[in-house]
Amino acid sequence: MNRKYRKSIIAGNWKMNKLPSEARPFVDELRGLLPKTKTCDTVLCVPYPIIPALARAIKDSRIVFGAQDVSAHEKGAYTGEVNAAMLKDLGCRYCIVGHSERRAYHGETDSEVNAKVIALLDAGIVPIICVGESLEQREKELTLEFIDYQVKAALATLDPKQVKRCVIAYEPIWAIGTGKTATAEQAAEVCGYIRAVIRGMFDARVARAVSILYGGSMNAKNCDELLAQPDIDGGLIGGASLKAEDFARIVSGTVQE
Ligand code: 13P
Repeated sequence: MNRKYRKSIIAGNWKMNKLPSEARPFVDELRGLLPKTKTCDTVLCVPYPIIPALARAIKDSRIVFGAQDVSAHEKGAYTGEVNAAMLKDLGCRYCIVGHSERRAYHGETDSEVNAKVIALLDAGIVPIICVGESLEQREKELTLEFIDYQVKAALATLDPKQVKRCVIAYEPIWAIGTGKTATAEQAAEVCGYIRAVIRGMFDARVARAVSILYGGSMNAKNCDELLAQPDIDGGLIGGASLKAEDFARIVSGTVQE
């Protein structure tokens, strides 16, 4: 982490778990467990129907909420879609874009990811852009090449000011929900590389302003080592964000230095 130039962020991704009625008990428990001083943005990215209950529950706390996807379209005849303006109106601060589960199961393309990033930035919501290689790509030593491609595709057409407002999450697909965390060295290498790609596309000032998160089986036990890496500015947490105690422990992992 490097708090001089950028924010630390611990974001939970509840995926399609929990009910709206479970938001308040979770937040009530979490509030009591969070560290007393604010060292990072503490974010819960939840399914749309949970947002209203969560927004009420986190009032007067330092927890903020995010969504897990957004429409690339501004408004109109797009049945089933939710646009960035609706999320903003509810008080949404962050939104995950291009999660590997959406890319794999919903055919989300790189150009859609790019369009969603722009829609969110236009609405004043911070996109958390997910990138990450498959096991096959890692084994074929194609990781960095693929990450280079994904980062460039997601940030294409953005100006430096817009890029500074983005967050990138490195989530190796083989580490998601598998209990197989990337080693701190592997995660640090790719997160450092992502910063180098941004430096190459823009400049050092832009690159050092972008928060880069690690995601993939991050938990209360392995978070400290991952968060100690200079280019890892936080985490995007799946399974371990469903338990207030584990999530709070990861947030406490940002209390260091
Ligand atoms: P797990 O922490 O459950 O591996 O999920 C990571 C993830 O996909 C977060 O977006």
